[in-house]
Amino acid sequence: MEQYHISVDFWNQTHIKKIKQPKELSLPNSEPGRVPILVIQFSTETGYRYSTDEMFGRMCIVATIKCRWPLHPGYMHSFGMTEHYFVVVEQPLSISLSTAVVNRFKGDPLSSALKWFQDCPTLIHLISRTDGKTVKTFKSDAFFYLHIINQYEEDDHIVIDICCYRDPSMIDCMFVEALQNLNKNPDYAAMFRSRPLRFMLPINCDNPTSGDVENDHLYVSPEKLCDLGCETPRINEFNIGKKYRFFYAISSDVDAENPGTLIKVDTYNKTCKTWCEQNVYPSEPIFVSLPDAEDEDDGVVLSSIIWGGSECENQAGVIVLDAKSWTEIGRAVFVTQSPVPKCLHGWYAAAV
Ligand SMILES: [Fe+2]
Repeated sequence: MEQYHISVDFWNQTHIKKIKQPKELSLPNSEPGRVPILVIQFSTETGYRYSTDEMFGRMCIVATIKCRWPLHPGYMHSFGMTEHYFVVVEQPLSISLSTAVVNRFKGDPLSSALKWFQDCPTLIHLISRTDGKTVKTFKSDAFFYLHIINQYEEDDHIVIDICCYRDPSMIDCMFVEALQNLNKNPDYAAMFRSRPLRFMLPINCDNPTSGDVENDHLYVSPEKLCDLGCETPRINEFNIGKKYRFFYAISSDVDAENPGTLIKVDTYNKTCKTWCEQNVYPSEPIFVSLPDAEDEDDGVVLSSIIWGGSECENQAGVIVLDAKSWTEIGRAVFVTQSPVPKCLHGWYAAAV
């Protein structure tokens, strides 16, 4: 089983007549050589489409769902897949097509075409992997998200864990001007506040029948997995799409005593362990299993690190933690020819 991760830049994929938005993948289960991707197609019939693509050579649409608002398709950064279902989380952060087209001509950033519908729910669509039909749609209070942690089927439920924000104001926090003035903004940390939440979606429930399609979606309320802000979540790849216990993340609490914290969350006990070092800022923690692993967390976690301040700006490293004990095993430090910026995502490729 392999995990595919596509991170094609959405903004460079923009066209006036047709915009495709390839998504990151939080799932495998695919046939070898075939990559499931989710694209938003802007046409006379705007919708989300699941496709499998043989490394972009032959595209084959396996499912299509309509956007909630045809002129405002939802922004989605990742999606889920279980043994039998695709899971599409349609948040009320949308892309205004009209603004996007105008921005294209004016040369304005497309980020200003994002529109947040505060009073509208987030929708979670379950789509059959057998026939591509939408099986059920759930709704929850509005939340913004970038990364789905994992999802799986258990006891007639789909369990889906997501790094959730109350709203998308954290996007505004990442503009250079906002970063330069963050100490003057008392709301900065709150704007960045997120928590990992678990949604339990009953597959075989009966929906209310008021006749209003939007109102008839079953409301689901999430459970908090850990009381720390978590981002760039990773798990043991063997458990993607399956019941799992642990995930690893970086802290997203910018007001924490040490914001550069790595977190291991136990989803069974709802407990977590942290690792941090003064002035060290890690990136996405990547779990690498031991060849003879018996337990889910038998392995190491790799994370690239940089240091704050100007003294160590020409330095970068990789830290290795024992995933089970959550302690450092070792690190490699490199001197670089120029300052190294903070990275967010990361990737590991085994030697071939
Ligand atoms: Fe991402």
